[in-house]
Amino acid sequence: MLIKDRDFQEILSAEELQNTVKRLADSVMNDYQEKNPYFLVMMNGAFVFASDFLRNIGHPVKVGFVKYTSYVGMHSSGKVTPVLPIPQDVEGRDVVLLEDMTDTGCTMHFFLEELKKFHPKSIAIVSLFCKPESLQYDLKIDYIGVKLPNQFVAGYGLDYDGEGRNLPTLYYTKNDE
Ligand code: IMP
Ligand code: MG
Repeated sequence: MLIKDRDFQEILSAEELQNTVKRLADSVMNDYQEKNPYFLVMMNGAFVFASDFLRNIGHPVKVGFVKYTSYVGMHSSGKVTPVLPIPQDVEGRDVVLLEDMTDTGCTMHFFLEELKKFHPKSIAIVSLFCKPESLQYDLKIDYIGVKLPNQFVAGYGLDYDGEGRNLPTLYYTKNDE
């Protein structure tokens, strides 16, 4: 699959992704049976994952959106900038963050520091993908869908320089030599 100027290979099929997302949603909702979770979707990457995840929940829940950026092209810039602010009404709520990918963990680390200032009752992180080898922060990710090798991926919400988010399959590309 050619995305922009690079060749990508399939790593997870659409069916495998749907099964993983359903398993995550079932597991989270099983743990939150007695609670009223407030889901925060980390834009932009998590929008496809979140829309599938949230539709696996059979009853109404509160959903909000946040946006922090760190990536430029294929690399984490190490500098995290808030774009969409955290909604004030997370105060006292059981917040569940939906994230597409934890790579260095920089975005999540910075975001958690901000979120704590709004005094939620509890915070849990759901990360569809994680690259354990590139993690640079001491993060507790409560729910992980799939652990991936340290390679750049695109599709299912994740982009290569703005392209490929719409693809229902996940693709990887070989690292530059
Ligand atoms: P981190 O701050 O290094 O953990 O990276 C966080 C964000 O960078 C993720 O939420 C993704 O949106 C994006 N990202 C990380 N790895 C990839 C990748 O392989 N492809 C596309 N986007 C990625
Ligand atoms: Mg993201």
